[in-house]
Amino acid sequence: MLTGTYKATSKAGRLSFRAPVASDGPAIYALVERCKPLDLNSRYCYLILCEHFSSTCVVAEREGECLAFMTAYLSTERPDTLFVWQIAVDAELRGQGVAKRLLAEVLARPALKKVRFVEATVNPSNDASRGIFHALARQYATEVHESLLFATDLLGDGDHEQENLIRVGPVDLEYNPAR
Ligand SMILES: CC(C)(COP(=O)(O)OP(=O)(O)OC[C@H]1O[C@@H](n2cnc3c(N)ncnc32)[C@H](O)[C@@H]1OP(=O)(O)O)[C@@H](O)C(=O)NCCC(=O)NCCS
Repeated sequence: MLTGTYKATSKAGRLSFRAPVASDGPAIYALVERCKPLDLNSRYCYLILCEHFSSTCVVAEREGECLAFMTAYLSTERPDTLFVWQIAVDAELRGQGVAKRLLAEVLARPALKKVRFVEATVNPSNDASRGIFHALARQYATEVHESLLFATDLLGDGDHEQENLIRVGPVDLEYNPAR
């Protein structure tokens, strides 16, 4: 498990970025609950992510308060692919590059040095979510593709937007000057 932290200055104050631990679970659950339109998963789900996937997840906190987080995992079928599950940034911190910092923090970890593709699903109407991955593609001067992954009928009774797969890559992490 990663234990290191580093500081970042934003307009809203100093944030510390670190890998999550199980005791972060309740704060992550509360953050997702107030970050619409994210799907709120079970409390147990967030505990498992903190306990078993901390090397690919990250929380950002200020004075002990969890204000942003990202959950992600390496694809078991394609270990060169990081799948980003959820990103949540507290409303007061949005538009200040925090989501990009969350992604950069994870991609900078030694365990991810073989990553060549970053994937996520985005709802067609979520321009903020899409913006994160287009920004990543620009940062690495690479391509971004979007295609239908999960149609609406797979996601409940019709009130959930379809989930499009967004795929960024290939990325060459060693050539990123920000690292
Ligand atoms: C989506 C979300 C995580 C973005 O966080 P953020 O910290 O504001 O994002 P950043 O400031 O790092 O911006 C990343 C990129 O997306 C763009 N972006 C951010 N918000 C945007 C918006 N509302 N519309 C269009 N583009 C947007 C930024 O311009 C930036 O690109 P740039 O560097 O080329 O300018 C945040 O809005 C949020 O928590 N929303 C609610 C939950 C959610 O929808 N999560 C995403 C699903 S995984």
